[in-house]
Amino acid sequence: MSWEIKGKTALVTGAAKRIGAQIALSLAEEGASVYIHYQNAERDARDLKAEIESKNVKAWLIQADFGNNGYEGLIERTAGVAGGIDILVNNASIFPQSSLKDMTLEGLVANIRVNAWAPFVLMRDMARIMKKGKVVNLLDSRVSGYDWTHAEYILSKHLFAAMTRMAAVEYAPDLVVNGVAPGLILPPPGKPMEYIERMDRTVPLKKHGSPFEIAAAVIYLLKSGFLAGEVINVDGGRHLIEYDRGPHPD
Ligand SMILES: NC(=O)c1ccc[n+]([C@@H]2O[C@H](COP(=O)([O-])OP(=O)(O)OC[C@H]3O[C@@H](n4cnc5c(N)ncnc54)[C@H](OP(=O)(O)O)[C@@H]3O)[C@@H](O)[C@H]2O)c1
Repeated sequence: MSWEIKGKTALVTGAAKRIGAQIALSLAEEGASVYIHYQNAERDARDLKAEIESKNVKAWLIQADFGNNGYEGLIERTAGVAGGIDILVNNASIFPQSSLKDMTLEGLVANIRVNAWAPFVLMRDMARIMKKGKVVNLLDSRVSGYDWTHAEYILSKHLFAAMTRMAAVEYAPDLVVNGVAPGLILPPPGKPMEYIERMDRTVPLKKHGSPFEIAAAVIYLLKSGFLAGEVINVDGGRHLIEYDRGPHPD
């Protein structure tokens, strides 16, 4: 029997824009009330809140900087206002460029803090405070190989992928933890669509995906009653090819 999203409350991190916003909207369309976490994009978060409320569910805003311990106490604060959190979608992340050549410990730690440690603390707090619920973590299909232009980022996602598997076992059966690993979906913030269009050829399906496909995978995992520790690569098959496994072609 499928798990009912309708009537539940979800916290989506980094939800004001892009993939996070589509996940928040899709959850609202399924009948969930949504806590929209944002860092800087307050105006987008407000617009999204209005759009979600037009779907006859509740929406709230919460600002927090995960680069600065803003994840501490976030579950308590959101659950206190919303009357509980049933669904956590760990979507927020940073994506700075770095290579092994110029990687620094400080840069690595900054990526780990936002991309792995913050979502881990939120998961752990969900288990401790809410006692039960469902978690979907946004990973990256390049963890099957590596991304030599975003070394610190991809290492943080490797860590988060391992944390996802560990949490899926450690917190079961109360917390059900799964992941979605996007491939080419959107260019980095501020870059034109051509940024990923020129990489379409590297994808077995010869195209990039859309935030709708990511949100659909999140909804699928949440509705399932028998998936745990599963990671769905939504990447047109890119995780299967050797392109990313290096040595890099430059
Ligand atoms: N885009 C892709 O094609 C792609 C590919 C592979 C994996 N992914 C993964 O899918 C997820 C969504 O991707 P995306 O491209 O939509 O993400 P994104 O736009 O790069 O980032 C999502 C949000 O993270 C928030 N964020 C950044 N730094 C933060 C901090 N210090 N504290 C709190 N929040 C912070 C930002 O919120 P504000 O805007 O409010 O500041 C931002 O809107 C990410 O986990 C990403 O790694 C995406």
